This record gives sequence, structure tokens and C-alpha cells, in this order.
Amino acid sequence: MIRNQWYAVLESREVKTGRPVGVTRMGEKLVFWRTADGQVVCMSDICPHIGAPLHKGKVKQDRLTCPFHGFEFDQGGQCQRVPALGTAAAIPRALRTRVYPTHETHDLIFIFWGEADQPPTPPRFFESIGEDFSYASFRQHWPVHYSRMAENQLDVAHLPFIHASTIGRGGRMVVDGPLVKPDGEDGFSLWVYNRLDDGTPARRAEDLPEPERHPFLQFRFGNIWHNWISDDIRVFIAFVPVDEENTLMYGRYYQRVVRLPLLRELFNLAGKLGSIVIANQDRRIVSGQLPKKSVLKKSGEKILPGDGGILYYRQRRYELKRAAGQEE
Ligand code: FES
Ligand SMILES: [Fe+2]
Repeated sequence: MIRNQWYAVLESREVKTGRPVGVTRMGEKLVFWRTADGQVVCMSDICPHIGAPLHKGKVKQDRLTCPFHGFEFDQGGQCQRVPALGTAAAIPRALRTRVYPTHETHDLIFIFWGEADQPPTPPRFFESIGEDFSYASFRQHWPVHYSRMAENQLDVAHLPFIHASTIGRGGRMVVDGPLVKPDGEDGFSLWVYNRLDDGTPARRAEDLPEPERHPFLQFRFGNIWHNWISDDIRVFIAFVPVDEENTLMYGRYYQRVVRLPLLRELFNLAGKLGSIVIANQDRRIVSGQLPKKSVLKKSGEKILPGDGGILYYRQRRYELKRAAGQEE
């Protein structure tokens, strides 16, 4: 996982006021809780005293109290009270738990996974999904590294195979391009030109005309993705890393075709179920990919021009990891 990036890690509704939630994300035991004014706090779930799970404690006056010996931690992770020392005692500065900056938008909780000297610039959600969209969400566990789950959604050559019965119907196997372009420092966009085999060779991305329409796919680091199915229908996914071998797909079917309550919910439900069928088709194969994690160098994999989305993702991951001082 790339350090110093924002990651969507939970849906807002999963963290309720007064009820700390313990989860594994980014390979770490983390606890999420809310202050009285609703701010989400993310901290290590391992009490720095002797390691009790903090999420089993209670929130009182904007402090999370450890269930074991009652140490109280403020939203900055600093211990403010050690009952056994008495109220008059000074609390050592070192008695603190790690916290990650959080940001909440579009009913998602993001954490900045890394070292932030100053508050980092908030993550960008997809601007074209406005308030007029409604959505239904789903969550799926995949036994994969999140990079494989992300790459699968940037892979346009698999559509007529894995999804022959759904979105890949019609046998458009020849992959012209795809065209991939950066979208700021933190993302990129992809245009798809799959077609039937008419005897002409697949065209390279550099031979394709400048796109006139919106991109088909957008990715933003660390882990969010958006499929622009039409102006009024979108699929959103956050590839949420649990650990090196497990990932949660937080998916959403967004639409603004049907706006009447009830009908809207039915429409969203149908869209969500369809998205789950498609995700299951992917999961069946991606779960078996080896090695578990994708890398740019030394992978030994034979990347073709049609894998342009995968390649671009790997290159940017590589650069961002290097910038964060990490090995690939
Ligand atoms: S383990 Fe948390 S206060 Fe002792
Ligand atoms: Fe797929």
C-alpha cells in the first residue's frame, strides 16, 4: 500500500456517535469513533498501555476510554488521564496512540495513511456525481491484494471473456487503445474503444483521435474508481485494503434517472444487484491471480498495449511509492 495517500475505508453510516468501531484497514487494527460534534477520529486500536482493544471502550466527553484500565485518549491520540496515577499526576507526552487524519465526504470516511506534517489537502471525490444522484451500496470481500482488485477495474480486455453473459456481450474482443490520460497528480482517466475483429490490427493509443466525450473510467489514488456508464448512471468502487491479502469492495450504483422515492430505491436495488453479479464474475478469477500483489518491475507478466490501464496504474503506483520512500 502506498503511504501518504487518502484511502476511503468505511461508509459514514458504519461509524455511529457513541459507538467506537474496530476494524482492520491497511493491515492495521484501527478504531473509529465520533466526537460530540460528529467529527470522525481514526486511531490505532491497540492501547499503548498494554495493548487492549480500544474499540471496546467508551467515548466520554470527546475522549475514548480504554476498557482495561481506564486511560483516556483525546482525538489527537494523546492520553489525558491515567486513573491509577490520580488526577494530579502529569501524563507523559509519550503516552499516546497513533492517529490518522480523516475526511468525510459523499457518505465515505477517508483516512490519510501516512505522516502528515500539516493537514493534507482533502481527497477529491468524482465531481460529476452531484447531489442529484441517489445510490444503493454493497460490500464484498475478495481474498486479494487491493492492487489486483483495482487493476481488474482498469482492465478492458477481460470484458468479452469474464463478462460474456453481462457487460461483455457482443464479442468486442479487439482493444483499440485504451487511451489513458493523467487527471491531476492524484488520478487518471481512461477511454475504451473495444470493437469486433474486422481483420484490422488493434490500434495503439497514440494513433487514436483526441477523445471528445467524457472518460469511461476514472481512478483517483489511493483507492477510488468511477465508471461513467452514462450521464445519469455511474458505478463507484472503493478498493478498501484490509491487509496484504484481503480487500473489501465498497461499491455503489448511482443514478439520477428515477427520482421518485420508492421507485428510486427499487431502481437502485436492481442496479446494485446487477453490479454484484458482475463483481462476482470478476472475483471468481481475480481471487486466483498470482502473485497476490501486482508490481511494475520484476513481475515477469507479459503486459500488452491493450493493458494500458493496468500499466498506467502500476507506473503511478511505482512513482508514488518511490516518492513516499517505499520499496515497490
Ligand atoms: S490496556 Fe488500555 S489502559 Fe491498560
Ligand atoms: Fe470485470
